[in-house]
Amino acid sequence: MNKKIALFCVSLLLGTATTQAQKPTLKETLGKDFLVGAAVNVDIVNGRDEGSADIVRKHFNSIVAENCMKGEEIHPEEHRYNWTDADKTVQWGEENGQVVIGHCLVWHSQPPKWMFTDKQGKPVTRAVLIDRMYHHITDVVTRYKGRIKGWDVVNEAFNDDGTYRKTPYYKIIGEDYFELAFKFAHEADPDAELYYNDYSLSNPAKRDAVCRLVRRLKEKGCRIDAVGMQSHHGYDYPSPEEYEKSIKAFVAAGVKVQMTEFDINMLPRPENFHGAEVGQNFQYDTKYNPYTKGLTKKANKIFEQQYLNFFKVIERNKKDILRVTLWGVTDATSWLNDWPIHGRTNYPLLFDRDYKEKPVVQKIIKMFEENR
Ligand code: G3I
Repeated sequence: MNKKIALFCVSLLLGTATTQAQKPTLKETLGKDFLVGAAVNVDIVNGRDEGSADIVRKHFNSIVAENCMKGEEIHPEEHRYNWTDADKTVQWGEENGQVVIGHCLVWHSQPPKWMFTDKQGKPVTRAVLIDRMYHHITDVVTRYKGRIKGWDVVNEAFNDDGTYRKTPYYKIIGEDYFELAFKFAHEADPDAELYYNDYSLSNPAKRDAVCRLVRRLKEKGCRIDAVGMQSHHGYDYPSPEEYEKSIKAFVAAGVKVQMTEFDINMLPRPENFHGAEVGQNFQYDTKYNPYTKGLTKKANKIFEQQYLNFFKVIERNKKDILRVTLWGVTDATSWLNDWPIHGRTNYPLLFDRDYKEKPVVQKIIKMFEENR
């Protein structure tokens, strides 16, 4: 009998054995304070990735569709919707005890391409775009009324310097597109929570811009429940102090906070790369892909420390946090394997390519449980 088995038998006799099945889960622990979520892709909800599905069932109590509810996917033509995968996601969530979150109604990236131009390919008028945005939001939110807890109504509408991103929504409608979008969503499902969602919100200029937006929406009588801090972090950014300042600033503006797309990019960055601007991409170079065989001991230590640094901030502010969602389930299917450089091997999430829980999961749980 080898040493490992002998030790295990002894621990069984002593009653100290803990197997994977007995370890506390994220939803049993952090789930006492806020919703613990994961972004799910169409393979998971269609039964093609049961390994990830099992992790979601075991550790999470909330899901969000990574892509299938975005404009270009769900509403490909003005008078045609593609509900298939969105319906499947909501159904899968309900069948597996998950609170379902909607992502996202108004976004400049992956929008319904037809939304902004007329038959001659010219930009539509303000009235036409308002009408089209109204029908998109109303049709999508109404379909899932009472089944989706809350919506990312507007996503990524500010530049890093706090100015408005000059999206077609902004250029054609003007800055009141925000309040129109929030009002249309609220009319369609008065009980749904409504959120503004963005990345790099530790950035003071962006933080201040979002606080101004929250205050303006509330002055206009709009429902806004929370700011979604996407939390696409790097191995060396942002500072936990700035992250916490933003949490407190949004709460002071009168809303709750949620970490909506949490992951930690462990790979080196090209020179002027930042945030989560999906439009960015760079040429592959092996210097940007150093861990094809796994993280080094040093890199893994940094990974764990980064997760613990940010979850310490989350734990300290848990009474003001509605939800923490990881942007994916295992490292294997993270968007960060192919962005901003295609074909890399990244390690941004809490479960590895063998569907195994990483040691940092129990360290996060321990931190939360010790502070109860
Ligand atoms: O579905 C098509 C497939 O049919 C086609 O063969 C394939 C190759 O072209 O593309 C597939 O679509 C891709 C889609 O992901 C589904 O895999 C799109 O090209 C690709 O651009 C899309 O990337 C998503 C990205 O948003 C852009 O929508 C990522 O998976 C997703 O993780 C990422 O998530 C965003 C949040 O929604 C908003 N915040 C930033 C975050 C990261 O960019």
